[in-house]
This record gives sequence, C-alpha cells and structure tokens, in this order.
Amino acid sequence: MSMIPRRKRLKPTQKEQGDAPGAASALRPRLIGRRLVLGVCGSIAAYKALLLLRRLKAEGAAVRVVLTQSAAKFVTPLSFEVLSQGSVASDLFAAGHEMRHLAWAEEAQAIVIAPCTAHTIAKIALGLADDLLGSLMLAAQCPIVIAPAMDGGMWDHPTVQGHVATLRERGVVVLDPEVGPLASGRTGRGRLPEEGTILDALIEALSPRQDFMGERVLVSAGPTQEPIDPVRYLSNRSSGKMGYAVAEAAAARGAEVVLVTGPTALAIPPGVQAVAVKTTEEMHKALTGHLAWSTIVIMAAAVADFRPARPAGQKIKKDAKFPTALELEPTVDILTDLADRRTTQFLVGFAAETQDLVSHAQAKLKKKGLDLVVGNNVLTEGSGFGSDTNQIILVDRTGRLTELPLMSKRMAAHALLDRVRELKPDNRVRTSPGH
Ligand SMILES: Cc1cc2nc3c(=O)[nH]c(=O)nc-3n(C[C@H](O)[C@H](O)[C@H](O)COP(=O)(O)O)c2cc1C
Repeated sequence: MSMIPRRKRLKPTQKEQGDAPGAASALRPRLIGRRLVLGVCGSIAAYKALLLLRRLKAEGAAVRVVLTQSAAKFVTPLSFEVLSQGSVASDLFAAGHEMRHLAWAEEAQAIVIAPCTAHTIAKIALGLADDLLGSLMLAAQCPIVIAPAMDGGMWDHPTVQGHVATLRERGVVVLDPEVGPLASGRTGRGRLPEEGTILDALIEALSPRQDFMGERVLVSAGPTQEPIDPVRYLSNRSSGKMGYAVAEAAAARGAEVVLVTGPTALAIPPGVQAVAVKTTEEMHKALTGHLAWSTIVIMAAAVADFRPARPAGQKIKKDAKFPTALELEPTVDILTDLADRRTTQFLVGFAAETQDLVSHAQAKLKKKGLDLVVGNNVLTEGSGFGSDTNQIILVDRTGRLTELPLMSKRMAAHALLDRVRELKPDNRVRTSPGH
C-alpha cells in the first residue's frame, strides 16, 4: 500500500486531451494526457523554459513545474503559474504541501529538467535532496530527460562530465548541450538544446519502442587513423556522432548492439558494447569478426580510403631528411568486403558527399549491393561532420528515395532504423518450414 497521501490528481483539461477540434489536430499533439514535471534551474536560459512549457501544453501534456530557488531569480514563478494553470512549486517546506515531492514524483510519467545547471546535475548524480527538485528526483521512478545549459568550460569540467556519465549509466537521458554563442560572450558547447530536440527526447523516453528486440546490430562509427609514423597520422573530420546516435537508438529499441568505433571524444551509449579501433585494418578485422553474430550491419564510420604505404617505424625528425611526398596505397574496402561475406545480414552504408548526393548514393547502393544507403552532403549547413544535426537522404534497394528534413542526429538515427524495420523481416518472427 502506498504511504503517499493521495492528492488531487493532475488531469489534462479537455483541450489538452485533444478534444478541442482544430487547434489540437493542427498541432498534431504527441503528449496528449501525459503527466509531466518540468524542472527549471538557475540558468540564464531559464526564460526558454517558458516557451518549452507552452509547447508541452500545446502537445497535450499536463505539466507540473518545479523551480529551484535560483531559477526563481531568473524568471518569476508568476509566468509559470499562468502558463501551467497554477501547478508551480519551489519550496520543499511549503506549509500544507509537505509531501508534494513524493506525490508529484509518483504521478509523473516523465520528468524533464530544462535548463539543468551544473549544480543540479551534481545534486541528482549524488542524490542530494535539500530542495524540492532534488527530493523529487530521488523519489522519481519514471523516465528522466535532462537538458543542460551552462558555459562551455563548466560543461567540459571533469566533475560535470563525471556526473553526466553517472546519470547516463543509470539510464537518465542527458542531452548534450548545443554549440553556439553563450551568455559569457564566448562560443562553445553549452547552449540549451533546441526545444524540438528536448521534445523528441521526451517523447522517445516516454514510449520506447522495442521493435529491434531480437536483432543484433553491428555499427561502425567515427574516423580511422592511418599512421605516417608513431606520432602522426592521416584521418578525417568525422566526430562519430551519427554512428553513436544509431547505436544508442538501436539499443533503446531493444537490439543487442556492438559499436566498432574509431577514435572519438564521445561517451559509449548505455547498453552498447564498444570495440575501440584506430586503423581501417583494425576496423575491418573487428567488423568481419562480428559479422556472423550480427543480423544488421550499419557502416556509419568514415573509413580512410588510402593510407601511407610505408609508415616510418620511428618519429620522422624535423631536422632529418624528411619526405617531401607521401606515398599512399588503398586501404581495404570494408563495405564491399562485408557485402561479399554477408549471408542474411541487412547491410546499410553511408555516403558522405560534397556534391551529386543522390546519384552517388544510388551508385553506391547498386555497386556494393547494399540494402540501404544513407546519404548526406557534408557541406550543407547543419549537416555532416561534428554537427548535432543532419539532413539525410535514404535510398533503399526497392528504389525508394526519401529526403528527410534537417533534424537532430538522434532523430535521423531513428528515421534510419524505421526504414530498416520496414525493409527487414522482424528477427523475432520465425516461420517453421511448411507454414
Ligand atoms: C547570471 C547567471 C547565470 C548563470 N547561468 C548558469 C547556467 O547557464 N548554467 C549553470 O550551470 N549555472 C549557471 N549559473 C550558476 C547557477 O545559478 C548556480 O550554480 C546556482 O546555484 C544553481 O542552482 P540550481 O541548480 O539549484 O538552480 C548562473 C549564475 C548567474 C549569476
């Protein structure tokens, strides 16, 4: 029996439930009837939480708002009162509401904290409960999405990164802040993720599809490094973000995932087994070694096409007679080799191009005999290496060509998996002979 006193349940209004014709359907609300808690912390980005709250309401959610004491210095509780229709709290010890942290935690179907400060990230990771938000987070059992905002230096600090890693290990969705101009006047990673990104993550956290259960997905990501000598190498600008997003999305949808990754600065997504490699040869070995295990192979890595033919055994000294030209030789074509060796695996390739994207992607699909090619023009703004967003096209073996709009790499990864799911028979469905 629950020890939590029953309070008036937070009910979506008729309009929130989507009954109001026209308005709701025009917005295609995706959170109808969902009971959410929006936590807001003391960041300069706190004003953006008002817009997020409006959006959550427009999507049909019933939202409780918890402001930290610091947040209330940036934006008044009154604004949140009006937009949330009165469900705002800040004080853990408010008379008559002493059990609110438990009651709100219990009824929430998801909690989103946006913006989340370095301080609150630390508090949640450590389980500190000295205010309403901290106490509520300890009591909560539901999916949690954290959208951090802070100066780039704070985000990069090992303490913050350590807390973020702890939270991610526990299954909390901690979005990466975005790169751009910061309140300090500097430019860097620290901006609150876009409203759409927060919303997508929230929707995903609320209803994780398990449509890849039974699949074993082998993903490659990142660049490869081809040594010139023991300290220098040839490489490319791949950050690994797209491949990591694919691995994360597949794991979230129930797949077993092995991620063969070149050198990146990214954290391994929860539930993903990683194999770290440096060279194309190492990546080839790791991928062919896992091919028989896999049911789906997604080659998102930006593999070197050529490498120094004779890497020096010792560091080439500046004052020595150093080479004026670098002799190159082709590396193994991993994708072609996997296509030759595969039996029943569904094979996806990536085509990072700077021109004629569609024709290059179609040619790659045909030449290598792939099931699906994901193309992106790495010169398009917001698309390609290093960015958090991507604008991709999907070309599949049925000849279908789909151009997707610019979206977060996380959503692009899901769109890709949606197409794989459409084309590949479900691995759980087993038909016995004769049926
Ligand atoms: C003008 C100003 C802006 C701030 N912006 C941020 C921010 O964006 N991110 C952050 O982590 N801390 C920021 N801080 C520091 C937090 O407000 C401070 O750490 C506070 O204790 C956070 O409390 P809370 O996590 O309970 O909201 C800012 C402080 C000031 C004075």
